[in-house]
Amino acid sequence: MRNILVTGGAGFIGSNFINYILDKRDDYNIVNLDKLTYAGNLENLIPSERKKNYHFIKGDITNFELVHYIFEKYKIKYVIHFAAESHVDRSILGSEIFYRTNVMGTNVLLEVARKFEVERFLQISTDEVYGSLGSEGLFTEKTPLSPNSPYSSSKAAADVMVMSFYHTYGMPVLITRCSNNYGPYQFPEKLIPLMIINSINNKKLPVYGDGLYVRDWIYVIDHNKAVELVFEKGKVGEVYNIGASNEMPNIKIIKLILSYMKKSEELIQYVKDRPGHDRRYAIDSSKIKNELGWTPSYTFENAITDTIDWYLKNESWWKRIISGEYQKYYEMQYITR
Ligand code: NAD
Ligand code: DAU
Repeated sequence: MRNILVTGGAGFIGSNFINYILDKRDDYNIVNLDKLTYAGNLENLIPSERKKNYHFIKGDITNFELVHYIFEKYKIKYVIHFAAESHVDRSILGSEIFYRTNVMGTNVLLEVARKFEVERFLQISTDEVYGSLGSEGLFTEKTPLSPNSPYSSSKAAADVMVMSFYHTYGMPVLITRCSNNYGPYQFPEKLIPLMIINSINNKKLPVYGDGLYVRDWIYVIDHNKAVELVFEKGKVGEVYNIGASNEMPNIKIIKLILSYMKKSEELIQYVKDRPGHDRRYAIDSSKIKNELGWTPSYTFENAITDTIDWYLKNESWWKRIISGEYQKYYEMQYITR
């Protein structure tokens, strides 16, 4: 049995990871440390919550004493670090919490992990640390870091800190950098769930700028399979890009969602652009494919319609979310746009 601290396991990718991994492996003993911010939701973990090898602790990764206590109590030897403030638009409205959680929180985890001599520390990062591409080219692991938003700069800062613990202390760290994920349990502030839910509600679909910004989409389970592989077989001190070679302009996805849902394109509303908006992301994932044998198993065509169907079937999940605190954010973000 391996004792693994998973941070941010109540969020979108972390909860999908825990449900996926505990369904197939009984040699992982998972301790999920999550602050339950607006983005954390224990309902996502209903499939795992009764398992003997799953434990949940509500708490903040910036709390050194708590993190220390968890390592001691659960004899933690492995860390998979998903916890973060993850939304670019929120980081533009206010950056402080992004640096506190994403940078200082990672520092606390690294310091405690160093003290307890962990055997593997996997930092879940993002392709956004590389900045923006023009119409040609792909991000490789050698692309220089050039983040443009407070969010991506906080992730890049965490990544270089993680690497410094490898070079300085010989800590067995690994980093994954994935492109844009979609799938069940994604908080409806992100493009795909926001557009699905607004379509269901016949609300306007806010398209930033000209709508021709390009993202490289991957189904969340394909990301998590890659995380498992890097965690199991990745070489320490290495970075692995993850992407499914599925570049698409935002407007194309939005029209596809409307068409599947049989809704009118008149719902589309072009709005003021995101400041500092990265034009294009596209990932070269040949390293993880060639060295670890990973390959995505879902096609965009099938996984996007499964995702739309999931939101249609799980109205109660997102209806609880889009009230309260989220409503305030939505007004701040879009009403004056
Ligand atoms: P999310 O916002 O859905 O979930 C983040 C989780 O972290 C939430 O459960 C939240 O409660 C928790 N959290 C936040 N601050 C915390 C703190 N101080 N202490 C403990 N827990 C805290 O994010 P996500 O989309 O699931 O992203 C997970 C990770 O993957 C992030 O590190 C993100 O940078 C990275 N990533 C995301 C994407 C994407 O497309 N969503 C792509 C590549 C990488
Ligand atoms: O690339 C990986 C990153 O992908 C992750 O590191 C981030 O955590 C994740 O949030 C995501 O960042 P993006 O900024 O690319 O995702 P978002 O869903 O916010 O936006 C996707 C694209 O859609 C982007 O070009 C902005 C645009 N957009 C977004 C929203 C919310 C709109 O046009 N309208 C919107 O209302």
